[in-house]
Amino acid sequence: MRVLITGGSGFVGQRLCRRLEEAGHRLQVVSRDPQGVRSRLPAGTDIRRSVLDFVDARPAAIVNLAGESIAARRWSDRQKQRLIDSRADITRDLVILCEQLAAANGEAPRVMVSGSAMGYYGDQGDREVTEETPPHDEFAHRLCKRWEDVAKEAAEHGTRVALLRTGLVLDAGGGTLAKMLPPFKLGLGGRFGSGRQFMPWIHREDLVRAILFLLERDDLEGPFNGSAPHPVTNAEFTRTLAKQLKRPALFPVPAVVLQAALGEMSRLLLTGADMRPRRLLDAGFDFRFPTLETALADILG
Ligand SMILES: NC(=O)c1ccc[n+]([C@@H]2O[C@H](COP(=O)([O-])OP(=O)(O)OC[C@H]3O[C@@H](n4cnc5c(N)ncnc54)[C@H](OP(=O)(O)O)[C@@H]3O)[C@@H](O)[C@H]2O)c1
Repeated sequence: MRVLITGGSGFVGQRLCRRLEEAGHRLQVVSRDPQGVRSRLPAGTDIRRSVLDFVDARPAAIVNLAGESIAARRWSDRQKQRLIDSRADITRDLVILCEQLAAANGEAPRVMVSGSAMGYYGDQGDREVTEETPPHDEFAHRLCKRWEDVAKEAAEHGTRVALLRTGLVLDAGGGTLAKMLPPFKLGLGGRFGSGRQFMPWIHREDLVRAILFLLERDDLEGPFNGSAPHPVTNAEFTRTLAKQLKRPALFPVPAVVLQAALGEMSRLLLTGADMRPRRLLDAGFDFRFPTLETALADILG
């Protein structure tokens, strides 16, 4: 089928596009730089600058991943607005696309899997978090809620909407691990603050498999926690990564240092949620990498 992907050029999107192409789907990617990203995408991908350029191409399914990187720079008021707008605007265009296709020939895309993040729940201390846990109100929550609220409007045009609240995506060549590996390889790694904050994580391959699962299963809609069934605290993550690399991790970074260096953005490192993928498991999704040990062994060889 024809699948339209926003953020297809990114860390998750590139792997997703490869898997979709292998499964025989036709790819349509929205990118701010169609020429620049061509080499990162499978040959034959139809790349256009804006969502609404695809009205004539009638996608049957949508995966919505685009957005300014949450850790790109300090969260000034301006940057917070940019984080929100870069997601809400393109998601709004997707809703308009669904509306236009439904009005033109009664054929809105069948399904939209739309991004969200563990930040939806905000800081949850050490309580176990499922899709039903009430969120803690803070910037990360408001960002994800806005992103989800806009996406949900596609349902009014007959499109099934699944929202994927993703944990830290782990794999070689990008994401969190690309930032953590250099100090850890030098034996300069350590926990952040107390280390008691939870870091829900997911292997990139399992995240892409979960997206394909949600695209296919017509009975699934609403929010899904996109993280492995065994989340770890930051201290456990630190220990497991150091062990895998056969290096010591003796250099904790005090919370005050992170707060001074990063401002409010330090909450990404110092707070978290013990997030469990209850709805994916209930639906029968099978994680290939359920524990951090299995994921890191695969990624780090
Ligand atoms: N990686 C993680 O650990 C993680 C965890 C939780 C949630 N997520 C969310 O999942 C989504 C995909 O993650 P990812 O790691 O693949 O992200 P990524 O590598 O940063 O890619 C996101 C894509 O969004 C587009 N983009 C970037 N800035 C933009 C802006 N200001 N306005 C419009 N589009 C912009 C870019 O595409 P073009 O340059 O081609 O336009 C980029 O390739 C993101 O929205 C992210 O917030 C990721």
